[in-house]
Amino acid sequence: MKQGWRWYGTNDAISLKEIRQAGVTDVVAALYERKCGDVWPVEEIKARQEAVRNAGMEWSVVESVPVHESIKKRSAGYKKYIENYKQTMRNLAECGIKTVCYNFMPILDWTRSNLEKELPDGSTVLEYDDVAVCAFDLFLLKRKGAEKDYPADVVKRAKKEFPKWSSAKKKTVSDSILLGLPGTVDDLTIEEFREQLKAYANIDDKKLRGNLYKFLNEIAPLCQELGIKMAIHPDDPPRPIFGLPRILSTEADILEMYEKVPYENIGLTFCTGSLGGNPLNDEVRIFKAAAKRIHFVHFRNVVYSEGRTFNESPCHLSGKVDIARLMKLLIEEENRRGEQIVVRPDHGRFMEIDKNRKCYAGYSYGGRLVGLAELRGLEYALKHTDDVAGKVIVFTGATGVLGTTLVEDLLSHGAKVAICGLKLADAETAVAAMAKKGYTDALPIEMNVLDRASVEAARDAVLKKWGRVDVLVNAAGGNHPNGTSPAEQMTKDVKIEDTFFGLDMAGFEFVNKLNFIGTLIPSQVFCKVMADNGGGSVLNFCSMAAYQPMTKVAAYAAAKAGIMNFTMWLATHLAPMNIRVNALAPGFFITNQNRFLLLEKDEKTLTARGNKVINKTPMRKFGEPKDLCSATRFLLSDESSFVTGVTLPVDGGFVAYSGV
Ligand SMILES: NC(=O)c1ccc[n+]([C@@H]2O[C@H](COP(=O)([O-])OP(=O)(O)OC[C@H]3O[C@@H](n4cnc5c(N)ncnc54)[C@H](O)[C@@H]3O)[C@@H](O)[C@H]2O)c1
Repeated sequence: MKQGWRWYGTNDAISLKEIRQAGVTDVVAALYERKCGDVWPVEEIKARQEAVRNAGMEWSVVESVPVHESIKKRSAGYKKYIENYKQTMRNLAECGIKTVCYNFMPILDWTRSNLEKELPDGSTVLEYDDVAVCAFDLFLLKRKGAEKDYPADVVKRAKKEFPKWSSAKKKTVSDSILLGLPGTVDDLTIEEFREQLKAYANIDDKKLRGNLYKFLNEIAPLCQELGIKMAIHPDDPPRPIFGLPRILSTEADILEMYEKVPYENIGLTFCTGSLGGNPLNDEVRIFKAAAKRIHFVHFRNVVYSEGRTFNESPCHLSGKVDIARLMKLLIEEENRRGEQIVVRPDHGRFMEIDKNRKCYAGYSYGGRLVGLAELRGLEYALKHTDDVAGKVIVFTGATGVLGTTLVEDLLSHGAKVAICGLKLADAETAVAAMAKKGYTDALPIEMNVLDRASVEAARDAVLKKWGRVDVLVNAAGGNHPNGTSPAEQMTKDVKIEDTFFGLDMAGFEFVNKLNFIGTLIPSQVFCKVMADNGGGSVLNFCSMAAYQPMTKVAAYAAAKAGIMNFTMWLATHLAPMNIRVNALAPGFFITNQNRFLLLEKDEKTLTARGNKVINKTPMRKFGEPKDLCSATRFLLSDESSFVTGVTLPVDGGFVAYSGV
């Protein structure tokens, strides 16, 4: 993650110097002085940018360029405000600021009922209390039909508790809901709020969605041209409030927006705390579904006391939201993209350290400092305790379809990988591709797994570069049409040359040898290095055909069955030398070796055989290369230190299912 921090400009009680000293590289700011709907002048953007730069950081994300109410309602003047919005985008792009956060919540922005909920240690956090919000709605706002928007027990308690509210409590709740939350557009009185609500009487969920999609489709081509990424902030709390629709609250909402606005640059601010404001949201699931278009991240957590009542967690990592898993997913997404995403610690509690300054609610120094430190520690631990980190891995077949994905995964987890290809040029291309993504611990090696001299030369090159070998992955292998018999079974109507009796011996030998001997020779060469070094591990590539042979592919099936057997043999043989030997048995992945068997020439329609495979796979799909990554890391790392001689199927259940 790129460490971000929200800074409210010159009005902020926290100085840029303090922010820099927190370890921040990327400042998240806006022209808060500008009225909603104004064009942001280039000179003002540059002045703020300059201030941030002079402090040794970069203003890289805008939070927010607020969307004028007339755009949300598509009411009088909205066209002018869209034009203004576009001009602000041009001006930001001219200054090189290209990630823009905004939201589409009508009238109110994020909503809390208490900005100073006290914790046992005396620090305070923000709270959303459903009973307090309900009481405000029923008795202060006096909104018609409000009761139906709250659970019956919440209404009952609001009715019971409100008469006991002091005038101070009424003011606290009203002010918390209507006034002064940082980043919100306007402070409102109850009367003004009532008036504004009237303007939304005819704007329901569907209409508001339509208005969002129209707005985004209007600005998207320009943003794309300018290279600007738009990152909509989810609703907070993520559900309708005070009868106002909220349309960016759930996984379905996000995916609908992606579909209706089909531009990659129109994406999401993944705010864990806001999404966590709905107990039904599964933030991990949402991240996975939305990952490709997440342009900016806020990490914080929430703790529920009951129903929909929550307060912001004093610890960014613990609470309802599984931040550890989300950080892991973020790292994976960053690895996939080859670039880091700006993350800011969102909100923080108010602690003693800040008692002499007036911070914006949620935007304390101490609370966010702790939050950032927690996030940084989590990221560091996830990146550095990976058991493949630092291992020297010799990977044969590394330029193949499965190999390419697995090698990238291993590099992204900190391994050093010798990318071995049959042709040096292919290995060099693969290494260059990895370097482009920022993975430089890769070495291109030419290696023919059937030629001992070539394997030994590869060994010498790896030892020269890294001085040792920890792991060997034997992924070179595959099938070939010349090693298969065209007919599944021999019947009287089948031509003899299409049966077992027509098998081309050279083809049979080629496939059998490539897979089996191509595993044996590198094992012999590299396990000797490991034995001399005190240990290591080997991962062979087996197949579904090893458990039960598949029709047509006699040579391949026999070789892969041999590999399964050999895996157990070698595991036993080398256990005293602290070398573990395991195998992966991938199910069906469409790759070069089987494309001709599973897909018709159009590369889309399944062959009869392809259909049979899907029907015998309980998960009803082919695998994707990335499905093999975690199983591979597990078998190569010390996580599996007592596992040897096994063949692990990664197959969507193919082996388990008898077909009946
Ligand atoms: N794709 C699947 O569905 C599937 C299923 C089960 C097992 N496997 C096994 O996984 C492994 C990787 O398969 P893939 O699908 O990535 O295949 P692939 O054809 O994309 O890759 C195989 C690689 O092996 C290399 N190779 C071929 N002959 C070689 C030789 N003599 N010396 C060195 N390298 C050589 C090729 O250049 C290629 O880069 C293979 O062992 C394969 O049998 C694949």
